[in-house]
Amino acid sequence: MQFKPENLVRQGFQIEYIPNMPREQILGRLHEFDSLITRSRTKVDLELLEAGTNLRVIGRGGVGVDNIDLEAASRRGIIVLNAPEANTVSAAELAITLLMAASRGVTRSDKLTRNGVWDRKYLGREVKDKTLGIIGLGRIGTIVANRAMGLKMNVIAYDPYIASRRFELLGVKRANSLEELLPQVNALTVHTPLTEETKDMIGARELAMLPSGAIVVNAARGGIINEHAIAAALEDKHLFAAGIDVFVEEPPKTDHPLLGRDDVVITAHLGANTLEAQDRVGSEILERVCAALNGDVSRGAINAPKMDADTLEKIGPYMKLCERMGHMLAQLEIGAAQELEVEFSGRFPGDLEPIFSSVLVGYLRGILEEIPNLINARALAKERGIALTLKTSEDSEDYANEIKASISDGKRVRSVAGTCFGKQPRLTRIRNYRLELAPEGWVLICTNIDQPGVVGKIGSMMGEAGVNIAGMQLGRDEPGGKALFALSLDAKPKLEVLEKIRSLEFIESAFAVEFS
Ligand code: NAD
Ligand code: MLT
Repeated sequence: MQFKPENLVRQGFQIEYIPNMPREQILGRLHEFDSLITRSRTKVDLELLEAGTNLRVIGRGGVGVDNIDLEAASRRGIIVLNAPEANTVSAAELAITLLMAASRGVTRSDKLTRNGVWDRKYLGREVKDKTLGIIGLGRIGTIVANRAMGLKMNVIAYDPYIASRRFELLGVKRANSLEELLPQVNALTVHTPLTEETKDMIGARELAMLPSGAIVVNAARGGIINEHAIAAALEDKHLFAAGIDVFVEEPPKTDHPLLGRDDVVITAHLGANTLEAQDRVGSEILERVCAALNGDVSRGAINAPKMDADTLEKIGPYMKLCERMGHMLAQLEIGAAQELEVEFSGRFPGDLEPIFSSVLVGYLRGILEEIPNLINARALAKERGIALTLKTSEDSEDYANEIKASISDGKRVRSVAGTCFGKQPRLTRIRNYRLELAPEGWVLICTNIDQPGVVGKIGSMMGEAGVNIAGMQLGRDEPGGKALFALSLDAKPKLEVLEKIRSLEFIESAFAVEFS
């Protein structure tokens, strides 16, 4: 370990290392500590945070902070840090290990041989010249791609949030959809965070798109590939084998359908468990936590530290507006972002940088494993190859001030604009359509051919579905041309209703977005 705990002790820190501490004991002693460092097993929930009355910093040794109630920690002003890069090599190596072991039936043969069965009839598969599909070309996906190329595999990846430039740089072929990726690959490995979008993203339908005899690997988070669908596809002999490190429920129940299968290679969430990764994770997180306790939160902070009350009072409404504009931008159909430009017109009551970063926070949230915040948003966007521009101009045409955020995928540009009426954020433009929309709760946004009866028709469909409309905004380019309308709803519209709306001939696009 390069970073020795003794040095910290010399600096005046008192460190207690208590492995496998029962939860009751943690609850009983947490008030004694300024900082808590955990890995994934300890659930840092409200109960624990309430017990930690003196907590100022929480360190997560690894990347996923899904075991920490971030909102509750932020509300208490507790800084949460992680060490996301420290175990990436180990996690990537395990994914490759699972792929190789699954393709050669390693654990099956090991078990049989130990049980006295000398089975030499089993035929594995080579990986050379086969195609590996990677979903999620972030930190770990990138290393996996690199290692697979070393094994002479062809690599093709799907990650709609990564710029094409990055694919080119890595020498990885880009797939623009799962439908394009899956039929081409002999092995599939997932490296995304577990989000609403990625949960069950590979189910029975998607597995059926893989060529017969394919192998699947999940060393990211349980549930990205549906476990029951894997078991069924193995049973049908559509899949050749699988390698699984992570489960929806950990540890899995003994009657889990994958545990009894000898065509599945299983490890117990060991992606980060190497001597090297533990050493790196341990030193990095200790270093970051101690720096944070000394006031330096520049490394690893995933929730923003509190801003002083005066600044927040002035620019808070603009930050909220921009976060919602970023979230809106992420919903507009466009390819991977290559450029993001934010233009500030008119005068603003404070520093523009946190307002600018709020657009990035809103745009990146839900896409990445690492939680974007004011501290890390620029760096995360840069890592993803997104060029950032902040522009200012003295005059604003229609409002006292206005912010316009535009995203480009190299071919198309999509924009959203907004301002604040007092402290109330308003979207003043979506794409080229002018409106004044409060970005709150659920909003249904449709673009359509401008003709009579459109809004009435959608309104009655919402009524039939039992969803109350709280407000409506309309924008159009020219009478009889194209129009956009936004309905503020009291509840989330069901997918079937959205699909029905999309199938109407005068509707060009329809989607629901939640601002919260
Ligand atoms: P990362 O944030 O660097 O990369 C995630 C990538 O997924 C990003 O590039 C993002 O654009 C992409 N992505 C997000 N949503 C997507 C979608 N719907 N479709 C396609 N791509 C999408 O994260 P990372 O550090 O590479 O970690 C990847 C995963 O590995 C995480 O789930 C993490 O928790 C897990 N992990 C597991 C272990 C283990 O012990 N098994 C160890 C470390 C990390
Ligand atoms: C992580 O999120 O870093 C990994 O799942 C490893 C872990 O800490 O268990």
